[in-house]
Amino acid sequence: MFSVPALNYDYDALSDYISADIMQLHHDKHHQGYVDKLNAAVEKYPELQGRAVEELLVGLNSLPDDIRTTVRNNGGGHYNHCLFWVWMSPQGGGQPSGPLLEAILQRYETFETFQEEFAAKAISVFGSGWVWLQPNMDIITTPNQDSLLSSGEPAPLLGLDVWEHAYYLDYKNKRPEYIKAWWNVVNWPVVEARFDATN
Ligand SMILES: [Fe+2]
Repeated sequence: MFSVPALNYDYDALSDYISADIMQLHHDKHHQGYVDKLNAAVEKYPELQGRAVEELLVGLNSLPDDIRTTVRNNGGGHYNHCLFWVWMSPQGGGQPSGPLLEAILQRYETFETFQEEFAAKAISVFGSGWVWLQPNMDIITTPNQDSLLSSGEPAPLLGLDVWEHAYYLDYKNKRPEYIKAWWNVVNWPVVEARFDATN
């Protein structure tokens, strides 16, 4: 059975940028909803039980027809959100350092240019979706809760949830303001460790 991991910080820990109301709803209701639907789907197939969510997403096309879309949406939602919670921290913000910063600068010349390109991609997502930084420094987007793993991409280094459930209570329709604020909570040491692990 899949479960929602506890946050490493209090619901109000990011409240200068993301309110406790959003964090609680997003974590306890939205993420829990994905997990509940994923568990209900996998329950029908004993042979799938015990598989990691990553395995299910990589092998999406070989899953039984009747649960493939459910796993795509809810397995993707579970995987994406597990990462999202640890990509944020009350001690976050600033810039990365070490090899990750070097790679960003090699590709984007300045950290600010990288942030601008990431934000532009995040703003460009029509409707609900995510924007990702990949190990090769590409910035790409996915719709809905689609996982990069299902399209043969490597696991992302960093990602931002641009579903309205992630920001609407605080920022209403102003997605660019949410993105700008979010940089202040990005947990760069986690992103650096993910980058180091790919090299
Ligand atoms: Fe979300």
